[in-house]
Amino acid sequence: MNADRIDLLGRPFVPLISEAEILGRLAVYAAELNGRYADEPPVLVPVLSGAFRVFAELARLLTVPYAVDFVKLSSYGKGTEGGSLLLQLPLSQSVEGRQVIVVEDIVDTGRTSDYLHAYLRDRGAARVELYSLLFKPDRFAGQHPPTAYGFAIPPAFVVGFGLDYAEAGRWLRGIYALAE
Ligand code: IMP
Repeated sequence: MNADRIDLLGRPFVPLISEAEILGRLAVYAAELNGRYADEPPVLVPVLSGAFRVFAELARLLTVPYAVDFVKLSSYGKGTEGGSLLLQLPLSQSVEGRQVIVVEDIVDTGRTSDYLHAYLRDRGAARVELYSLLFKPDRFAGQHPPTAYGFAIPPAFVVGFGLDYAEAGRWLRGIYALAE
């Protein structure tokens, strides 16, 4: 019996990655960005809602004068993997000729990553990179894997640090995996 087991909407979740480990990885990535983008401010594009916590931590640590523009996507036909993506909140500023860094909570099948690469290229971004806190390599079937990521994880469903299960669990400070 795991003492840290928590229940969300009647399903059991157990700890996978601690908040301290997450913050350590994000600090390494922020330091790398601070070095690489010292001369050319990037546009950060966090993907709502899941990436809010990852972005908040990066924002706290970045010393380069970045711009920020949020996007939000949803799937038609919830639960189906074949459904198309709907851009609920598009970019509000031009990214033409800019260095863009998409900030994601997780890359799973890669559909969202592929969609955003095409969308940003269509809008004239000079370069698109994508940082994801989590990456499920065994599930990935897209064209654009994350440029960098915090942790490769098994194909389990996870919540916490911004990630949700039907809006539950976003508040959790670490990452928890479904234990069924
Ligand atoms: P994609 O399959 O890479 O396009 O991922 C689509 C979206 O599904 C992600 O941005 C997340 O919002 C969500 N997602 C995928 N895997 C998980 C998970 O394990 N927990 C919570 N959300 C997930």
